[in-house]
Amino acid sequence: MRKVTLTMLFDHPIVQKYVGRSGMAHAISVAERSVALAKEYGVSPDLAAKAGLLHDIGHYEWYQDGEWDFDQYKENDIHAIKGAARAHKLLVRLGESLPEAKAVALAVLLHTDSYLPEGTLQLTPLQQLVAKADTDDEEPSGGHHYRSISSETARQRILHLDHKINLFMETSSSYKQLG
Ligand SMILES: [Fe+2]
Ligand SMILES: [Fe+2]
Repeated sequence: MRKVTLTMLFDHPIVQKYVGRSGMAHAISVAERSVALAKEYGVSPDLAAKAGLLHDIGHYEWYQDGEWDFDQYKENDIHAIKGAARAHKLLVRLGESLPEAKAVALAVLLHTDSYLPEGTLQLTPLQQLVAKADTDDEEPSGGHHYRSISSETARQRILHLDHKINLFMETSSSYKQLG
């Protein structure tokens, strides 16, 4: 039984504010891609979807005169760090277990290595999956952050994903382990 659903997250003002800022269409698309990859990676589709939906929740608005400032962004961005903390706080508040909230937060933290020092990290399958789903959904010049979606369509896609995950979790015990 899932304590926290994607719909609960989607309807939350924090998600609407911060995920909406970085692009709800991109976030939902990454959540869908993450669920599609979950079986192949052997991870929980529930955690994959949550990490996918929340992966960019830490974005700051890097605007200069109404335009996205990529130089500022590249130099100062810590959205994965902020996002991990925000996602963790929100999930715990909504009743997620601490181990699951941590797994999602770490996948958010490591979905990009653009802010990390050089080196090789040993990523878990959940962390690899979210990074791949995000990269697969990216467009040149950050176009994926500007894709638009109506809130009605967005909510429908979230409800559909929740339904898919529930079916998956009910019929399979092998995906209940942490990613
Ligand atoms: Fe990101
Ligand atoms: Fe992203």
